[in-house]
Amino acid sequence: MAHMVPPPLGISVLADLLIGATNQCAFIYEEAPLAATLERQVVDWLCARVGYGAGAGGMLTSGGTMSNLLALHLARERAVQEGRDLTALRIVASDQVHVSLDKAASLAGLGQDTIVRVPTDVTGRLRDGAVRRLADELAGEGLHPFLFVCTAGTANAGVVEPLPEFLASARSHGAWCHMDAALGGMLTLTDPAATSDWCEADSVSWDPHKTLYASYAVGSLLLRNDHESDRLRFHAEYALKRNSDQDAGDRRLEGSRRLEALKLWMCIRHLGTAGYTQILRRVRERTMSFAERIHKTPGVELVTEPDTTVVCFRLVRPGLSQKDVDLLHERVQQALFQSGRLLLSTTRVGGNTVLRTVLLNPLVGPEDLDQALRYVAQETDRQAALL
Ligand SMILES: Cc1ncc(COP(=O)(O)O)c(C=O)c1O
Repeated sequence: MAHMVPPPLGISVLADLLIGATNQCAFIYEEAPLAATLERQVVDWLCARVGYGAGAGGMLTSGGTMSNLLALHLARERAVQEGRDLTALRIVASDQVHVSLDKAASLAGLGQDTIVRVPTDVTGRLRDGAVRRLADELAGEGLHPFLFVCTAGTANAGVVEPLPEFLASARSHGAWCHMDAALGGMLTLTDPAATSDWCEADSVSWDPHKTLYASYAVGSLLLRNDHESDRLRFHAEYALKRNSDQDAGDRRLEGSRRLEALKLWMCIRHLGTAGYTQILRRVRERTMSFAERIHKTPGVELVTEPDTTVVCFRLVRPGLSQKDVDLLHERVQQALFQSGRLLLSTTRVGGNTVLRTVLLNPLVGPEDLDQALRYVAQETDRQAALL
């Protein structure tokens, strides 16, 4: 219940065996003739969920970190082509943006200070108009916001950020709009109406190893315009001769790659869109019912209504200072972990330490949720007495 680590589908484990046994390197056509075809099919399936139309494409990656790095690279290359002043480039994202963006900015040689973070409120949500105001301020200072990153399912509280505002700001500044839906990609299946504008983003990260129950490591970077990835096309005399989409390694960062496409292809063939929708809806319902249970339980309070599968809640102890309450969260989490009864995570939202769950396991039932809250209550009493 603690992290974005779901149990893998049985068929994914079987696929891992086949991938290991055939040991195909998803790079050159002759080595792995199926790789490019299967990757295109699964990427097409993901693009269709996002609502991308003709001309869309993308690639499988090792996960959200790699997808975000590649999105930043493509956006930056476009800014370079446009002749932008590289010292004036800025990235606009909320202060809840995933740490992988810091890594990406650092690796791209831009530095983490390039990211200008829009502050969120005490529940981890952006205020109306905050993104637009900050972007306009930057432009007023002669800076160029070249990349806007909207997160669907923030790592801390699972919040889905307001894409329309990011899109409008990106358009008015001639910038790239990237959606980090590493977790939130699942909403395209559970709530397609709410994701109907995702197809307007230039790129989307979505991790099948988080919400499509594929075993590690399968991420994806989806592109509204597949030709954007031409900026990742390099020529090697001994290998990628054709510049053709037959080579699975064409327009990719890595050289040697596992045939992960086979795994996701088998998972999708096995469950289909309907099967995935059913499982993910159940997981969403469980998340909502956990939030309701927290509302009804004395001594705990919900930090924010869950948009995805993350639930953050805070222990309420009126007699204790904020510092001690923060400490209490850490102690309760550690004690439960050490006891082997329950694994939760802790994080910080709105300046407070909170307990956090990510309910991706469809086998977690209502009785498990009740039991979890009982464990938390017992451990809180025990740890509060020791403070
Ligand atoms: C919003 C978000 N983006 C990106 C990532 C990075 O994904 P990965 O660990 O697969 O590289 C995560 C991981 O939890 C995430 O929550």
